[in-house]
Amino acid sequence: MVICKSSSSSSSSGWGSTWIVHGLLAGAAVAAAAGTYALRRKARFRSRVVGIIPARFASSRFQGKPLVNILGKPMIQRTWERAKLATTLDHIVVATDDEKIAECCRGFGADVIMTSESSRNGTERCNEALQKLGKKYDVVVNIQGDEPLIEPEIIDGIVKALQGAPDAVFSTAVTSLKPEDGADPNRVKCVVDNRGYAIYFSRGLIPYNKSGKVNPRFPYLLHLGIQSYDSKFLSIYPQLPPTPLQLEEDLEQLKVLENGYKMKVIKVEHEAHGVDIPEDVEKIESLMRERNIS
Ligand SMILES: *[C@@H]1O[C@H](CO)[C@@H](O)[C@H](O)[C@H]1NC(C)=O
Ligand SMILES: *[C@@H]1O[C@H](CO)[C@@H](O)[C@H](O)[C@H]1NC(C)=O
Repeated sequence: MVICKSSSSSSSSGWGSTWIVHGLLAGAAVAAAAGTYALRRKARFRSRVVGIIPARFASSRFQGKPLVNILGKPMIQRTWERAKLATTLDHIVVATDDEKIAECCRGFGADVIMTSESSRNGTERCNEALQKLGKKYDVVVNIQGDEPLIEPEIIDGIVKALQGAPDAVFSTAVTSLKPEDGADPNRVKCVVDNRGYAIYFSRGLIPYNKSGKVNPRFPYLLHLGIQSYDSKFLSIYPQLPPTPLQLEEDLEQLKVLENGYKMKVIKVEHEAHGVDIPEDVEKIESLMRERNIS
């Protein structure tokens, strides 16, 4: 099942138009517009941006996942090709501890940074890669390798959100939660304030309606895995000790909020097609065939 066959790309035709980034939530749009005006005279805030795709071979649920073949290309190549279409990234690297993954990625033209096996999660791997990169960057985008259909506009959206919110150190994206996913603890819900800053994330349904049911009229938000960090914050983030709510919900991002840092959230239209288990590959392939994505 694990094949590294790279082929040159000519992908993404048409797909990009099937979804739209709404941009910042209502109140935040005003603040962002004012911010853009004020910054116009100076160099752009947090202008140097690197996209890092952390990839590990070992996985309890799906061994060798980054190299799995999806319609003729390794999954990591598909993610990388999507990231290449983002306009805000100055550089994209794959961060891996695995020689097979590294070789495969160099084969299709990606830059690779080797990270140690002691990196315990994607965030640590991104931080290690950032430290090893010779150049200085202001913003790091953590691009999950298991979302081969990630829209480049979402990457650009979270980068611009972080550039437009100097008081935030972290940015991420949400989309509409399908009512039938309200009770699924693997779908992480998010609530934001009226300027688009995260208030809380939960595996439970938030907000909670006193009827005890999902309110079909409430615009619940589903958290998407993609995130970007201020690079100075990234260098301390993995060292911050775990926090009670983070441990209780088993959600890394709560550590950011519990330590009093601000997180900017953008709302996008996106159907999540993550690949978590081998069965997901077939699903995503038939979807791609249906939509004529090669
Ligand atoms: C709760 O959900 C119901 C629909 O399920 C809705 O009519 C009601 O306005 C919601 N809010 C409260 C406070 O009950
Ligand atoms: C990653 O792993 C480290 C070590 O287990 C842990 O301290 C940290 O909270 C995890 N998450 C992040 C975002 O660093």
